[in-house]
Amino acid sequence: MRRPFCKAVATATVGACLVVGSTTPLLAQRKTLEQKVDSVLQLMTLEEKAGQLNQYTGDAVTGPAVNDPTKLEQIRSGRVGSMLNIRGAQRTRELQAEALKSRLKIPLLFGLDVIHGYQTTFPIPLGEAASWDMTAIRQSAHIAAVEAAAAGQHWTFAPMVDIARDPRWGRVMEGAGEDPYLGSQIARARVLGFQGEKIGATDAVLACAKHFAGYGAAQAGRDYHTVDLSRRLLWEVYLPPFKAALDAGAATFMNAFNELDGIPSTGNRYLQRDILKGQWKFQGFVVSDWGSIGEMVNHGFAKDNADAGRLALLAGSDMDMESRSYVNSLPALVKSGQVPEELVNDAVRRILRKKFELGLFQNPNRFSDVAREKKLVGAPEHRQIARDVARKSIVLLKNEGNVLPLDKKTKRIALIGPLGSSKLNHAGFWAVNYDSTGYVSVLEGLQNKFGKQANIQYARGCGIKGESQAGFAEAVKTAQDADVVVMAVGEAYDMSGEAKSRTDIGLPGQQEALIKAVVATGKPVVVLMMAGRPLTFNWTAEHAPAILYTWWLGSEAGNAIADVLTGDYNPAGKLPMTFPRSLGQVPIFYAAKNTGRPSSGDKDVLYKSAYIDQTNRPQYAFGHGLSYTKFTYGNLKLSTTQLGAGQSLTVSCTLTNAGKTAGEEVVQLYLRDLVASVTRPIMELKDFQKVQLKPGETKTLTFTITSDKLSFYNQDMQWTTEPGEFRLMLGSASDDIRLDSKFELLK
Ligand code: NOJ
Repeated sequence: MRRPFCKAVATATVGACLVVGSTTPLLAQRKTLEQKVDSVLQLMTLEEKAGQLNQYTGDAVTGPAVNDPTKLEQIRSGRVGSMLNIRGAQRTRELQAEALKSRLKIPLLFGLDVIHGYQTTFPIPLGEAASWDMTAIRQSAHIAAVEAAAAGQHWTFAPMVDIARDPRWGRVMEGAGEDPYLGSQIARARVLGFQGEKIGATDAVLACAKHFAGYGAAQAGRDYHTVDLSRRLLWEVYLPPFKAALDAGAATFMNAFNELDGIPSTGNRYLQRDILKGQWKFQGFVVSDWGSIGEMVNHGFAKDNADAGRLALLAGSDMDMESRSYVNSLPALVKSGQVPEELVNDAVRRILRKKFELGLFQNPNRFSDVAREKKLVGAPEHRQIARDVARKSIVLLKNEGNVLPLDKKTKRIALIGPLGSSKLNHAGFWAVNYDSTGYVSVLEGLQNKFGKQANIQYARGCGIKGESQAGFAEAVKTAQDADVVVMAVGEAYDMSGEAKSRTDIGLPGQQEALIKAVVATGKPVVVLMMAGRPLTFNWTAEHAPAILYTWWLGSEAGNAIADVLTGDYNPAGKLPMTFPRSLGQVPIFYAAKNTGRPSSGDKDVLYKSAYIDQTNRPQYAFGHGLSYTKFTYGNLKLSTTQLGAGQSLTVSCTLTNAGKTAGEEVVQLYLRDLVASVTRPIMELKDFQKVQLKPGETKTLTFTITSDKLSFYNQDMQWTTEPGEFRLMLGSASDDIRLDSKFELLK
């Protein structure tokens, strides 16, 4: 182990020695940490404190960067506490060496958007959410952390836990979909995966729950747009995944670009000081989003960059990503009495604490290990896991006439569509370390699977976006010559992601026309839809016999798809977001209210809450996803139908695999509070279990409904239950309820 190298650490070490042995070990550790932090803080000038709160981007850029040739000099003079977008053990070492030239030698903290893998790429988060598999999601985040940490990263700007109910918003790809319960489970799994057993382990990185808060509710799905949420929706729908991330130990939070009820989230005291650091007692630090402090000037909330810094710091935003407000203005703001130094100290302490916990004061390069990087980044064992998580994320939307799985003895396969030989698009929008050799295309996946057994012909047919149909004839001919057709269509990697909002969420370009032309051949057609968001594709949904929604699946996309196409893996994914029939239905989500004039929207539209030109029903409902086998539900039992206040209810049912193939089912439990002092959604997901069954096998499942699952915010915004009747629903999707019952909560 390296010896302490700076004055600050030497002081801290003395402090540690004084405490150990004089109290209990845990308390001693905590005191030791606080003393270490204070020992550094007391040496810092106001300028160095402001520098500690300052974060700059490096080489790669994920936002509107400012060209600043003085950055290195600023690092050397202690004016930078953290950098983002510096990749690799070597490069992080180089910059760390610069920080160690500063007066106090406080190491830099390196952060990066490791959203769904570093080099080994996993499915986009929305895709992974479709697995409803918390073990897999946690494992994927862990592998991402293992690789990123070996490449010098201390911190990932993930998970994004924003609830999203508008598929126009391109960042739906980065979250877990529309539901607060599923979103909370996934937030927890991702935080645990990234942070591993312990902050400071070299196979873990700090997690960052973002974007606090409400970012996913951008008006009209336009990125960075205004958010105006009721307090009820904020607390019931948008905050729970953040709370879950916090409870799982998330070390950091990122605030958001958007305003919320007229106050930009970055300058929002209610969010950051009252809720996060107050009520929730968050001990980590809050980083701003890219330039979001300075952008409060554009919002019309701050008069200049310095004023924005003042507002952000007062509101509880600890680190300034790329606005330069803190570094340039905080010292003067403190000296003029506009910002209390104690608040600056608190922000600095929060950041130093993490640097100590990461062990950076002992060894600033402990994460930047070239040998470990070489061994772990893209390791073959990681790819195996990536393949498995990718298979788990695929959703079988439709399988008419059991076109799937494909017969492995199939002789002639046509692969058609612009995404057939693509690699880049499987990487998605956030591929931080893209390397095309690390990706398996669908064509390669099919070739790997079928080998010489099948003749696989590929025809692109058209581009992803273009209007040309010049390739249609060749595509049709290729289809005619085949026994079965697999079509690979969808969005390009840069059509969903940050600043990738779309006003048209249809299948881009000529792709649906291509599907029509190919389906017209009469050959069995399987459509693979690859996208970062729910798309609308009504003609395909009605006419193509089989559809797999594959999102962007990452490094092992082609192999995972081939596993599912052939039945080597039986698909079990379920949609984490409702798929509309048209943009006119948006926002559409399953947990809607009944209204005073409820309607299915199919026939009874007169004076009902419905459309005259389209059903209310989505194309595919939340929770939908088929399997190659059939599951039957039975024997619903409730431990009681009259529940005393504060008591729990036990619900059991049997699940049988009634088909001939082993498979997994996600059994979903929904509740409805029938009458309450505040209207409640027609159904809310409250629990689920993913169950694996052999053919013919039956399992009994048990769920416990605690009083928390029956609670809601009453008219006074108190989290409480109210006596009365509840409807209980168990099923395979929000629109495929198999078992139904009622119980009463007594006074
Ligand atoms: C802006 C994005 O909103 C945020 O999620 C990301 O972490 C930062 N840029 C850094 O790239």
